[in-house]
Amino acid sequence: MKQKVNIAIVGLGQIGNYLFNELRLKKKDIEIKTGKKINIAALSAKNINKKRKFKINKAIFFKNPLEIIKKKNIDVLFEVIGQSDGMSKKIVELALKNKIHVITPNKALIAKHGDYLSNIAERNKVNLEFEASVAGGIPILRTIKEGVATNKINKVYGILNGTCNYILSEMENSKDSFKNVLKKAQKLGYAEPGNPKLDLNGYDALAKIKILSSLSFNKSISKKKCLMEGIENIEFKDIEIANQLNFRIKLLGITDLVNNKLFERVHPCLVKKDSYIANVSGVMNAVILHGNPIGESVLQGEGAGPGPTSSALMSDLLSILRGNIKFPFGISGKKRKSILSYDLRKYSNSLYLRFEVNDKPGVLSQITRSLAICNISIERLIQIPDHKNKKASIIIITHRTNELNANKCLKSLKINRNILKIPTRIRLF
Ligand SMILES: NC(=O)c1ccc[n+]([C@@H]2O[C@H](COP(=O)([O-])OP(=O)(O)OC[C@H]3O[C@@H](n4cnc5c(N)ncnc54)[C@H](OP(=O)(O)O)[C@@H]3O)[C@@H](O)[C@H]2O)c1
Repeated sequence: MKQKVNIAIVGLGQIGNYLFNELRLKKKDIEIKTGKKINIAALSAKNINKKRKFKINKAIFFKNPLEIIKKKNIDVLFEVIGQSDGMSKKIVELALKNKIHVITPNKALIAKHGDYLSNIAERNKVNLEFEASVAGGIPILRTIKEGVATNKINKVYGILNGTCNYILSEMENSKDSFKNVLKKAQKLGYAEPGNPKLDLNGYDALAKIKILSSLSFNKSISKKKCLMEGIENIEFKDIEIANQLNFRIKLLGITDLVNNKLFERVHPCLVKKDSYIANVSGVMNAVILHGNPIGESVLQGEGAGPGPTSSALMSDLLSILRGNIKFPFGISGKKRKSILSYDLRKYSNSLYLRFEVNDKPGVLSQITRSLAICNISIERLIQIPDHKNKKASIIIITHRTNELNANKCLKSLKINRNILKIPTRIRLF
């Protein structure tokens, strides 16, 4: 690569803004560490007149980012728009085809089009780097690609969404409802003010899990539907009961190989209070990987925000400037296989079930009978009466039971008019 490196930043929102400033501040540092002089040669955002934290040099501003490729001689392009398709895909595709290295924190884009885009990068002998797409500032992708490169990894799991982890921790600390804590998270900038759905329903964590399994198991990105549940239905009551039973509730992303089949999932879990993962609180992320011969390895840190995300983007830049031109997913696309998916119906686990019922004689036995019919045995049962409203909460911890039976049982109970809302199901981890 030449001595003077031209950089383009496409997207000047939360991340683009911070990154721009970092690049300016760390120019000398980058030169000392890589021997390269960086030059911000092009910027792009939707609206040139928007108020930003820095004054835009209009001479290098492009409303249409595709024009940058035609008009400027760019070496490295940062895509920080954030769409899974649209302009994000177009600009990354065009840049790679024009032999420009691309760096992006865009997990939605990589989880959806990572295979296709990495093949273009490979053909054109340029890098597509996406360290910031998983767990923000935690260098987990580089750790898998380089740090533990010859290990046989069989499981990766962790807390991959800081918004959900903050909400669950804060509900426990403040003894407040999901709704109120979500509002607080939005005020603090931990949850999207408009539509936080993609964080809360597990979609964001699942995109990260798909990227993690591709790297860990040297496979193409799975397109199969996976178990994806979020935290929207968790009530303070669940957190309180879990606490009494010596558990905490965490939204975990998990990927492992079960009998050589790939099992990717995201769902709330009951984790033992004295486990490491139960004590990762607030907006923190943590990733735990199991490999051979390394054993269990843990990385924890801030999973989002402009600072940690820019830290990962800068690390990608330095890797490129040092000449580390490699396959985006660690090995050549030709060697990445697809792995058959594990049949979720066979998954068996202990469950936490909470039923909100009318406090009438016979209701408990209706529930336990349905469980017995579906071969689900009970390990613990707790009944919390609400005498004033003639209602009760029935909490059942089951022995190991398989998903198919649990689904059948919960479906059969749907017609029971004494059950007042869809039961809450949380899997034990
Ligand atoms: N925020 C975080 O904490 C965080 C953490 C990890 C990863 N990420 C990832 O970082 C990426 C960016 O996130 P963000 O929070 O910075 O988003 P953001 O604040 O919404 O910024 C998006 C930027 O893209 C620009 N843009 C939109 N459409 C465009 C187009 N057609 N052409 C050129 N520019 C366009 C917008 O322009 P205007 O400013 O003119 O509207 C805006 O500057 C996403 O992939 C996200 O998943 C974010």
